[in-house]
Amino acid sequence: MRAKIAGIGHYVPENVVTNEDLTKYMDTSDEWIQERTGIKERRYATKHKETTTTMAAIAAKKAIEMAGISPEDVDFIIFATLSPDYYFPGCGVLLQRALGITKTEIGALDIRNQCSGFVYGLSVADQFVKTGMYKNVLMVGSEMHSAGLEFNTQGRGVSVIFGDGAGAVILQPTQDENEGILTSALHSDGTSAEELAVYSPGCHGGIHLPDVDFGFEETDAPGEIFANQTLLEKGHMYPHMNGQAVFKKAVVKFPEVIMETLANINASPADIDMLIPHQANLRIAQFVQRTLKLPNEKVFNNIQKYGNTTAASIPIALSEAYEAGKIKKGDLVCLAAFGSGFTWGSTLIRWS
Ligand code: COA
Repeated sequence: MRAKIAGIGHYVPENVVTNEDLTKYMDTSDEWIQERTGIKERRYATKHKETTTTMAAIAAKKAIEMAGISPEDVDFIIFATLSPDYYFPGCGVLLQRALGITKTEIGALDIRNQCSGFVYGLSVADQFVKTGMYKNVLMVGSEMHSAGLEFNTQGRGVSVIFGDGAGAVILQPTQDENEGILTSALHSDGTSAEELAVYSPGCHGGIHLPDVDFGFEETDAPGEIFANQTLLEKGHMYPHMNGQAVFKKAVVKFPEVIMETLANINASPADIDMLIPHQANLRIAQFVQRTLKLPNEKVFNNIQKYGNTTAASIPIALSEAYEAGKIKKGDLVCLAAFGSGFTWGSTLIRWS
């Protein structure tokens, strides 16, 4: 038994924010952003009207409809996001409520793997379906970055990159050996965890620890057990990113993990019909494309329009590529992601 994608859908907010629009709040330029990242514009959700969950619900309804089922048929939800509506509970239960799946009391799992959240979550969903435990797993990646970016010159290295949106798939079992998820590979390296992170809220001790004294020994060095104390001391609630460290690791790990999944099924890069790289940065995607020697028509990028939507970027791109007729039945589709953690992974799917 394999898991196949039986339904897919995505949603991006209507509000378009151009690079030029950002210059109102920070010292940046359209030229700088396009040259370094390929991004021309991104979408921002409407404040107080949309959230990570409401966007996910729209994408999920499309995937559910395409799969020919109703929300009540979903028997498990997996939700990947780094920008949840609340610190807790996670968005999985909020999505369950938004979809009106209240009678069946199905399980909902939240995935915290940032840019590789969709690939990680998909592999979890794959295991549930392959083992016969669930028949209709809803896997969603959704992000509302615009609610948590630093809109000033100090935050410009990060804020210009990220955008909002959601993508969803329904996974169902198949006995057909010519379709479905063929293999996945997942990796992590926590030694650089603070190089791409939001530190607060958190119990690391940068800020916000309650000022109480129960008489036991304490240290005055916040974050001393963590790798990068200086960064933690800032206790910052906005994302911090060492862009060059991310770039250098990403261009190595993307091709490496793709080659690993290809080796799992005795295939080579030439066998890939469509590569959907996580939309981190167009320059990273182009580097991966050159390394694997893939022609333009075998790689799908939409970061130019949406920026980096982290956990939502792969399902949005997959959904758009499918809607545009760029993925056909029988195609070997390769998903690959790299991001905060660092975590990275790849999945190969024989499209159905
Ligand atoms: N507009 C204008 N100037 C900016 C800027 C912006 N939005 N952001 C940073 N700068 C400035 C910096 O302050 C720095 O100025 P200085 O030389 O006077 O100090 C200069 O541009 C170069 O900064 P640097 O961070 O070295 O740029 P870079 O060439 O590494 O490009 C990234 C920055 C973020 C575009 C690049 O590192 C990158 O794409 N990294 C990968 C990020 C990524 O993929 N993240 C997603 C993770 S999945």
